[in-house]
Amino acid sequence: MNIVSAAIYPGSFDPPTNGHLDIITRALYLFPEIVIAVTDNINKKHAFSLHERIDLLQKITKKLKGVKVTSFSGLLVDYAERINSFVLVRGLRALSDFEYEFQVALVNRKLNKKIETIFLITDQRYTFLSSSIVKEIAMHRGDIKKFVPQCVVKKLKEKYYISKIIK
Ligand code: PNS
Repeated sequence: MNIVSAAIYPGSFDPPTNGHLDIITRALYLFPEIVIAVTDNINKKHAFSLHERIDLLQKITKKLKGVKVTSFSGLLVDYAERINSFVLVRGLRALSDFEYEFQVALVNRKLNKKIETIFLITDQRYTFLSSSIVKEIAMHRGDIKKFVPQCVVKKLKEKYYISKIIK
């Protein structure tokens, strides 16, 4: 029997939400270690820098045992090969997520046949939640407290509330 010691939870985390935290917590029931792999894709415009996203993830997971926050650029399968970890964890909120995730999982497996993707279903409370929705609410100065951890609320306010006042 093969015991998987670590699984990779990849994503943009721009910014991390309670939904991400829910998936990390669930993944820790299954694997002793979760390597959160933050994408450093220069072609994608992120609201938060790589450093900010890593910092927020470290803060929100500091009480969880077995979490490591890292980053990668290039193909995820190459990163998986580099760290010798071949299980990917992805969260599913609704059926609408499935089609894209299914495609990506198959592509990743095609690129490296050792890769296995595990889908975890998010808590019902977070089925509507995404980083984009949270940013949209923050831009309009809506209440984001229910959607993201406190340190992320602070960061979103700094980014969107204050910059709006200056403009
Ligand atoms: O949080 P996201 O934006 O849904 O995460 C997507 C992510 C980062 C997991 C995905 O875009 C990714 O793996 N990017 C790295 C590039 C890659 O390996 N692409 C091949 C799959 S199409």
